[in-house]
Amino acid sequence: MEETLLETPHKLDDAVRLSDEHALRYRGDFPILDRKVHGKPLVYLDNSATSQKPRAVLDALDDYYTRLNANVHRGLHTLSEEATNAYEAARERVARFINVPARSMVFVRNTTEGINLVASAWGRKNVGAGDEILLSVMEHHSNIVPWQMLARETGAVLRYFDIREDGSLDMDQADDLITDRTRIVSIAHMSNVLGTVNPIEAIVKRAHDAGALVFVDAAQSVPHMPVDVARLDCDFFAFSGHKMCGPTGIGGLYGRPELLETMDPYMGGGSMIDEVRLDGFTSADIPEKFEAGTPNIAHAIVFGDVVDYLSAVGMEHIHTHERALTDYTIERLGEIDGLTVFGHAPGRGGAISFNLDNMHPSDLSTVLDRQGIAIRAGHHCAQPLMRRLGTPYGATARASLYFYNTSEEIDTMIGAIHRARNLFGA
Ligand code: ALA
Repeated sequence: MEETLLETPHKLDDAVRLSDEHALRYRGDFPILDRKVHGKPLVYLDNSATSQKPRAVLDALDDYYTRLNANVHRGLHTLSEEATNAYEAARERVARFINVPARSMVFVRNTTEGINLVASAWGRKNVGAGDEILLSVMEHHSNIVPWQMLARETGAVLRYFDIREDGSLDMDQADDLITDRTRIVSIAHMSNVLGTVNPIEAIVKRAHDAGALVFVDAAQSVPHMPVDVARLDCDFFAFSGHKMCGPTGIGGLYGRPELLETMDPYMGGGSMIDEVRLDGFTSADIPEKFEAGTPNIAHAIVFGDVVDYLSAVGMEHIHTHERALTDYTIERLGEIDGLTVFGHAPGRGGAISFNLDNMHPSDLSTVLDRQGIAIRAGHHCAQPLMRRLGTPYGATARASLYFYNTSEEIDTMIGAIHRARNLFGA
């Protein structure tokens, strides 16, 4: 009987209605959203893992291989020149999207590669025994392990911000944690588990006052909100194309030009050199110095179309409407007995982790999948955070939203969770 009650449409406030109108305007751009899974319409709520791709991006990819394909920075023939121009124009478009100069924007595979590049190429030169690297307990493994590797090699010490009860960063610890021993603070802009948006500008100010640098892991923020890196004033900043309507295998790393210039190359090979002799080499200027080998030309060029698409949708709109849908989702999850939502920091984003008493998140995900609903279950590459939260099974379920999701899809998920609960007696 509970189910019948839940199938009745939930009353929507104006913000959610506007969010739905916005989503419905853009859903048609995403062919995959029309498909069925297990005979049910797909409800795609795993956007923090990867987003879906609009037709404009799929067409741009097809156009590149159909019309333009050639290697860049090498040939003098027309195709190569056109491909090179398109590649560099894409760099400019992506750099403009986050408001940084093009020469400070390195194309990388993803956020993970950006962090590894800096931990290695900057870290090995600038971090020594006893120096401190400051992270937080809410970091993704990709913003922990590269620094642990650096610490292992150099004898540096890792320190961690804790979180408060509501999942926000405990900034009261800043004075204790950010000292003249701190070389770098590396921190998520938005948590992929708690949705917490961290106060980057305040962290940057404190870090710079102490003579430390700041790396922002923006994998979960850039897709969902307007971001102005010049305003954040951070030193490094990395993000992934595939979480923001782009293809996999392409991302951006911003580095303050004067830092990139003094860093050693991360990988050696073609394109990253000025001159090679038998007894040594000199490096190319930035950003080529960090782009050894044939890059992911097609996806880098398409990255330019991705940011144009998102700009046309409007990052402010995306942010506003996702905020409304996030509040709605958390409110509806709150109606379910025995369900805990993790992360209630003010202004949080739409990565929403939760657990149902007595039910393994993987079981919940599997049951929802049979209804066509895609959520993620597991540790979300944040095992230290799972331990800190004390989640049973070291895991949570997670629904993560994007601007094409509607309240109706959330209602479908809520109904399915109730059914799963009844099924498992949870
Ligand atoms: N970092 C991605 C996620 O949170 C893969 O799902």
